[in-house]
Amino acid sequence: MNESRYDKLRTELILQSLRTQYIGKEIIYFESTDSTNIRASLLGEKGCENGTLVVSETQTNGKGRLGREWFSPQHSNLYFSILLRPSISTQILGWISLASGVALSKGINSYTGLESRVKWPNDILVKGKKIGGILIETHIEGSRLSHLVLGVGINVNMTHFPKAIATLATSIKKELGHPIQREPLMVHLIEGIERQLEALYHTGPESLADEWKLLSDTIGQEVSVTIGEKAIQGRAIDIDPYGALILKKSDGETTRILAGDVVQLRRI
Ligand code: BTN
Repeated sequence: MNESRYDKLRTELILQSLRTQYIGKEIIYFESTDSTNIRASLLGEKGCENGTLVVSETQTNGKGRLGREWFSPQHSNLYFSILLRPSISTQILGWISLASGVALSKGINSYTGLESRVKWPNDILVKGKKIGGILIETHIEGSRLSHLVLGVGINVNMTHFPKAIATLATSIKKELGHPIQREPLMVHLIEGIERQLEALYHTGPESLADEWKLLSDTIGQEVSVTIGEKAIQGRAIDIDPYGALILKKSDGETTRILAGDVVQLRRI
């Protein structure tokens, strides 16, 4: 495939082929924006529809988890955010992040033949290197969820990695040895996200938990979890009913982790 033919994302192709009930019925496209999550949050506040999809060719303030930057070179990767207005209990809320990770990992695997895995909560890794990430931002009004933004970044055709992430990140092109067309991949991933979310809303997290554990690079491993200035070490043994990670420390005590950065200490 000639990569330069596909340097601009064709939203008309995405609209034509997307078989979803609500995600991507409306697509807001930017040649460049600060962050698709910021744009989708603003649209959420303005009352835009459930499923509105914001996509950009590049981001000048791409946001990663835990306040990090998301490197967003132009015309080579996927950066998109989905505005969601689910009527769900707060117990299910924590599972949206794990459901999205499962959907993306399965979607990448079935579309490319790669064997990606998920690292808690929702990093997508290939051979231990990060190929995609998810940033979920919830907007609560009083005690009720007004909307949430599910932001997805996938390293598709990028070949240049800044020094800081050079040994930690990879891309689909780097792993396959050739570029791929972004539109059909995006369609495949979005359809998978909607399916996985609908299954979660209608049948609850039990079967999702099993799927997540099968794809997981975290469960069963000795890990160190950094939470702000603190680090907790232990063996990752399970996910609790809220989607939190359960660690068993060396003193036998268990602790639940709601947010943090997981580093694998040694593979067991
Ligand atoms: C992570 O740190 O793993 C999460 C990365 C999420 C990046 C995506 S790119 C599209 C959307 N807009 C953002 O600013 N961030 C998310």
